[in-house]
Amino acid sequence: METENWAESTSSTGTDEAQAMFNRHLATYRKVVGENLMFHREVYCLLHSLLSEEMPKPFKFLDIACGDASASAAALKGSAIGHYYGIDLSAQSLELARQSLKDLRCPIDLRCCDFAEAMADWSETVDLVWIGMSLHHLQPEGKVRLMKDVHDALGRGGLFLIWEPTLLEGENRTEWLDRFTSYRSVWAALTDEEFETMDSHMRLADFPESADTWKSMGREAGFAHAEHIYQMPNRFGSVYQFRN
Ligand SMILES: C[S@@+](CC[C@H](N)C(=O)[O-])C[C@H]1O[C@@H](n2cnc3c(N)ncnc32)[C@H](O)[C@@H]1O
Repeated sequence: METENWAESTSSTGTDEAQAMFNRHLATYRKVVGENLMFHREVYCLLHSLLSEEMPKPFKFLDIACGDASASAAALKGSAIGHYYGIDLSAQSLELARQSLKDLRCPIDLRCCDFAEAMADWSETVDLVWIGMSLHHLQPEGKVRLMKDVHDALGRGGLFLIWEPTLLEGENRTEWLDRFTSYRSVWAALTDEEFETMDSHMRLADFPESADTWKSMGREAGFAHAEHIYQMPNRFGSVYQFRN
C-alpha cells in the first residue's frame, strides 16, 4: 500500500534529501510490517502453507516487488525452494533483501528494475509467482498485461498468488481511501507524520480493484481458475490464487 514509487521518484534526483526521504519511507513501511498493521504474519503464513502443500520439490519462486523480502524469507524458511528470484526498483530494499534471504540454501537472484519491464522480457520458467501489495499501482491495462506476462512465465502446474488492496462490494476508490484515513487510531504505532505521508501517497498511487475485477483480470490474462482465498481482518485487501 505504500513505499513503492518513492523509490522511483527519489532515485532519479540523486540528492541527499531525496535519499533521506526514501529511507524514512522505507523505515515507516518496515514499522508497519513489524507491528503487523497490514497482517503480514497471517498472509505470509498462508503463503508458507501453500508452498508446502502445492509446490514441487525443489521449486522456483519469483517475488515481484519483493522489497526487503523479510516476510518472504520467513515464509520460505524450511521450504524446498530451489531458486529465489526477487525484483524491486529500490536498491536499498534489495540490499536488505540479500540479508533477509541469506539462510536460504539456493541461488538468490535479485534484480533492481521496474517489474513491468522485467516481466515483459522474462525468459526463465518458474513454479510460483508472488506479488505482495504492489500490482495495484498499475492502471487496469497494466495490471492485465503484467498478469499475462506472469502466465507466460509459469511452468505446468504453476501457481500465481497476489495480495492486493480490494474494494468492498459497491465501494469506490475514494471510499476505500477514506476508510483507510479513518483507521488513524488503529494505526497508533505510526506518528502523525508517518501516517499522513502514507495516506497521501496512497491517494496518489493506489488503485485497488473489487474482488470480482481482480479475478476477471486473471481470467483475461489466461488463467483458467481464479479464486479469492483470504481477506485481511480489516477488509482492506485480499489474497487471490490463479492457476490453469
Ligand atoms: C508495499 S512494498 C511491498 C513489499 C513486499 N512485497 C510486501 O509484501 O510487504 C512495495 C514494493 O514495491 C516496489 N515497487 C513499486 N513499484 C515498483 C515497480 N514498478 N517495479 C519494481 N518494484 C516496484 C517498492 O520499491 C517496494 O519495495
